[in-house]
Amino acid sequence: MTHRRLRTAVFLLASLSAGAASAQQGPALTPEGAVKAEHNYQQYCALCHGKEREGHANDHAPSLRSKSLLESGFPMTIREAIAYGRQGTPMGGYIDEVGGPLTRRDIVDLTLWLRETAKVEPLEMDYRKGHDRIAGDVARGAQVYRQNCVTCHGPEGEGVTGTALGNAAMLALTPDHFLRHAIVEGRQETPMPAFGKVLSASDIDNVTAFLRSRSTGWSTATRALRTPPPLGQYVINPQGAAPDFGELKDGRYVSASVLDRELRAQRRMVLLDTRVASMWQMAHIEGAVPVPYYANREEAIASLPRDGTWIVAYCECPRAAADSVVKWLREEGGFENTAVLHEGIQGWVSLGYPVVAGDASK
Ligand code: HEC
Ligand code: HEC
Repeated sequence: MTHRRLRTAVFLLASLSAGAASAQQGPALTPEGAVKAEHNYQQYCALCHGKEREGHANDHAPSLRSKSLLESGFPMTIREAIAYGRQGTPMGGYIDEVGGPLTRRDIVDLTLWLRETAKVEPLEMDYRKGHDRIAGDVARGAQVYRQNCVTCHGPEGEGVTGTALGNAAMLALTPDHFLRHAIVEGRQETPMPAFGKVLSASDIDNVTAFLRSRSTGWSTATRALRTPPPLGQYVINPQGAAPDFGELKDGRYVSASVLDRELRAQRRMVLLDTRVASMWQMAHIEGAVPVPYYANREEAIASLPRDGTWIVAYCECPRAAADSVVKWLREEGGFENTAVLHEGIQGWVSLGYPVVAGDASK
């Protein structure tokens, strides 16, 4: 059952993600939106990223106008870096829900403005392939890293003049193809060289695979890949008491800090990862079951416990997919104890809460 669902997920990705991706860009940038975005940029970002978006004004903040960054922007990578920041680096979170000065709309506009101002067209991308793993020899990749990358990115990926490549928030949700693109093309007008001209294609794969292997912690020797739990065994902490989520915001939302607290307290619940399964594979909250927003509703409803166990759904959008799943769980399934993670998994990861990687091929 699980196998079939996952294969369907990959199959449907082709048709659904293209639409989802453009929807995630939000409406087009209006002239007023552009004026406000430029103002926000100068007020909040120029200090580190430079008045002309050239980067490295402070804290070695990357360029926000390099072609290879802007063209490869998977819809969420740039936007959510701005929204939630990258915990452990000087890049803070700017969205109001984590105490920042910008609304989600401001951030969508800022992202569009960065690309339009730099006159960069996004690459035609096959989103189905976009989240695929890049296979490589991790041990050889470690060697490539030591020889070519350490001076700027640090022996532990902590970042020196280059960004913190070992940052879990960055790695957990940055697709392999985004990393590889930066390595091959470099970042124009910055110290990041284009290794496409220097390293063999297989060494670029190897170093990408090495970085990916650090995504749940730089010093872990091997990364345990989780397989989706079998049908009917979705409950986390089956012996635990019910979680105390307090009053849900808007009758639906639980914050990352409260969810983390209740998971640590080993409360009984089900976690649903409502993104495409390839994203569950990159990083997910431990114990979460991949039930994509386009899953067969009857099948999903039949697979969930009927004893009042809390069900928490999350996505990266940061709420749209999980909202839609919880809506049908409530309306069609009659599940009352349901909630949505307010910050989504991007927020969860960027705020420093733990994730594990999965293997959806099993
Ligand atoms: C205090 C300095 C500072 C400020 C202010 C700041 N940033 Fe950053 N930003 C950084 C640093 C440092 C990084 C790299 C973090 C890392 O090592 O991963 C970064 C990373 C980013 C990235 C990821 C780029 C990439 O190459 O993956 C984006 C996008 C970004 N910042 C946008 C913004 C925007 C937009 C603002 C204003 C709303 C802003 N930043 C404000 C320091 C800053
Ligand atoms: C001479 C310094 C330097 C070297 C050597 C270098 N980098 Fe970088 N790298 C940077 C800088 C600086 C950035 C940020 C780009 C910018 O300023 O816009 C960066 C960015 C990146 C990014 C994008 C990260 C993000 O957050 O978006 C990746 C991936 C990366 N480097 C990988 C590598 C790998 C792998 C190697 C070795 C094969 C390497 N780099 C070697 C300086 C370097």
